[in-house]
Amino acid sequence: MEELYLGIETSCDDTSCAVYASERGVVIHRTAAQLDHGKYGGVVPEIASRSHMRTLFPLYETVMEDSGVPLSSLAGIGVTNGPGLTGSLLVGLSFAKALAYGSGVPLAGIHHIEGHILANALEGPLELPALVLVVSGGHTQLVAMERIGRYEVIGSTRDDAAGEAFDKIGKLLALPFPGGPSIEQAARGGNAAAYDFPRGLRRSGGCDFSFSGLKTAVRLKVESFDELTPQIVADVAASAQEAIVDSLIEKSLFAAQETRARRLYLAGGVAANSRLREALEERLAASGVKVSWPRPEYCTDNAAMIACAASHHIKAGRVDGLDLNSFARGNLSSWAA
Ligand code: KG4
Ligand code: ZN
Repeated sequence: MEELYLGIETSCDDTSCAVYASERGVVIHRTAAQLDHGKYGGVVPEIASRSHMRTLFPLYETVMEDSGVPLSSLAGIGVTNGPGLTGSLLVGLSFAKALAYGSGVPLAGIHHIEGHILANALEGPLELPALVLVVSGGHTQLVAMERIGRYEVIGSTRDDAAGEAFDKIGKLLALPFPGGPSIEQAARGGNAAAYDFPRGLRRSGGCDFSFSGLKTAVRLKVESFDELTPQIVADVAASAQEAIVDSLIEKSLFAAQETRARRLYLAGGVAANSRLREALEERLAASGVKVSWPRPEYCTDNAAMIACAASHHIKAGRVDGLDLNSFARGNLSSWAA
């Protein structure tokens, strides 16, 4: 019989539920984005957790109804238990535990970053070993992945994450939150060579990243204008995007050389950026490294990736008890032997 897994993701502001089948992939996936944060210029943790409380149960009911899968027939339930906002995580975790307790279906706590990495497996079988560039709102990491469950973080950001840099620069330019998609859009009408913004740790720091210098340089540039005309906004957006993309590519190239990787996967919300995809593909192909990424809905936070990760955990016998806790911070670590 087909094995079906339910995924629940509430680590930040988006509430998401999905059902995934090992053989045929995503059966159903629904994500409810929270729109309130725009007026505050960022995610407000208390608003996020209250919104998960309102949204999660009806969303779950819709997903189960539309998939036609009875809860008791599931092979497992996967839930993001960290890293993320504690209040938000606890809503999803308590809900998943209640479902597991009531139905006897096995439960697996999933590290959010492993979920993002395995979003690539939703597009087809992974070619491993591979290097993964994880670029989200909270993380920027290069991960050497030997196989599913074996991860080595070989580089991380020393300050801001790439998505955080996009969001902060978007705010400086008074663009709508989140900054990533807004900057990508504004950059289309701009000149990427208009301003020469710094690329952090260009010739140092191994596979590590740094984006705080860029953020300061953009702030100083923005403050130097009397008025932010649409053309200035477009040029600053395009130049800042180019600086972020360039740093991500330089470090990926360096890591690929160091690890002799032939394969690179992109993961996380910033992987939805088309300039990053295009430039990365072009420059890594020249070094013989094949690059791919999940479709946009699986780049940003979603429960399909969590259900997929849960299928691997549960098949490997990695089941959690009802004492499973959430964690706000914590590195991705290996679980497979
Ligand atoms: O993975 P994600 O949905 O949530 C976290 O785990 O953090 O990533 C959210 C981040 C935000 O910082 C957002 O600005 C960025 O992903 N993002 C983008 C794009 N779409 C989302 N950044 C650049 N270009 C995009 N198209
Ligand atoms: Zn995420």
